[in-house]
Amino acid sequence: MPSFSSAMSFMALSLSLSAVVQAAPAPVPTTPPSLQERASSCTFSGSSGASSAIASKKSCSTIVLSDVAVPSGTTLDLTDLKEGTEVIFEGTTTFGYKEWKGPLISISGTDITVTGASGHTINGDGSRWWDGKGSNGGKTKPKFFSAHKMISSTIKGLNLVNSPVQVFSIDNAQDLTLSDVTINNSDGDDEGAHNTDAFDVGESSGIYISGATVHNQDDCMAINSGTNITFTGGYCYGGHGLSIGSVGGRDDNTVADVKIESSKIVNSQNGVRIKTVYGATGSVSGITYKDITLSGITDYGIVIEQDYENGSPTGKPTNGITISDVTMDNVQGTVESDATEIYLLCGEGSCKDWTWTEVSVTGGKTSEKCENVPDDISC
Ligand SMILES: *[C@@H]1O[C@H](CO)[C@@H](O)[C@H](O)[C@H]1NC(C)=O
Ligand SMILES: *[C@@H]1O[C@H](CO)[C@@H](O)[C@H](O)[C@H]1NC(C)=O
Repeated sequence: MPSFSSAMSFMALSLSLSAVVQAAPAPVPTTPPSLQERASSCTFSGSSGASSAIASKKSCSTIVLSDVAVPSGTTLDLTDLKEGTEVIFEGTTTFGYKEWKGPLISISGTDITVTGASGHTINGDGSRWWDGKGSNGGKTKPKFFSAHKMISSTIKGLNLVNSPVQVFSIDNAQDLTLSDVTINNSDGDDEGAHNTDAFDVGESSGIYISGATVHNQDDCMAINSGTNITFTGGYCYGGHGLSIGSVGGRDDNTVADVKIESSKIVNSQNGVRIKTVYGATGSVSGITYKDITLSGITDYGIVIEQDYENGSPTGKPTNGITISDVTMDNVQGTVESDATEIYLLCGEGSCKDWTWTEVSVTGGKTSEKCENVPDDISC
């Protein structure tokens, strides 16, 4: 891009928006550049940063969010960005307090790259909402980060702390990579954080999550629907494990081609789990859990159950959702002494074609309630 176009955008933005554009001053050209050419690097900061960014997002090819204080009840709305936009979080991003559904941040577009500058933090300051009830009651809590309709995009190296409730909502996304994301809700362990799922995935394809570090109070990942989804090289602490489900009862009830690999699940309620909804129809197929290490699991090491109703197990499995082609390869580790090592509650004929090798969960109890377990697999 010629330098005169940067200068033009500097003038346009600084006059109308008090945004700071980092560009070297250059002579003003006699012929104004087109809108397209004006695209430039824009830096937004402070308490007006969110509204300025929202107003001028379409004219910036790089959006730097530097110590932005997002006002209460406002979404940092970076949806529908221009193709190829880069978003960089810098310093500390904070959010005002309001009881509302959020999200605090929303980003969408094609070929978008979202990164964090060294030392940055996106701080939900969730303790203002935490009341032990999560999304089941009490204060209405804002979801943290909507990654809906992100196409051929990347989110890399973000550092999020203290989410009020669910963290990443990945929905209607295609070919989205999330690498080296850290989500640390450790303060919430003693302060009533609940339902702080790290990655919720629905109606998406080509999702690749690598190198995530998570300390939270619900699923490390939960896939409700979608295809071609990989989670690899992750560390999940304190939550409910790496989950598929609950599947069933939504618009899209298909989960296919999921690889969950090379990850550690530590001090969590469950290790790996697949749950489907009682009485629902759908399909879960092509699921691989490979090279998974469990430790300090308090409820179930491996749990697959087909009996969920209104978010709770009923103990009565149904077979309207098949769970087929499930590979467990080198899933090993320990559970607490009062936890159950493996629990498999399938409907009649609906769990099939499972291949399990090097599966070893020890230290807890053997379940006597398993039902309709596929050939060659045992609890
Ligand atoms: C989370 O932050 C706490 C400090 O607040 C730190 O001790 C802990 O190591 C962090 N956990 C992860 C998983 O980064
Ligand atoms: C699966 O998703 C990845 C991105 O995560 C993509 O590169 C690949 O082409 C997809 N494969 C299929 C068969 O769609």
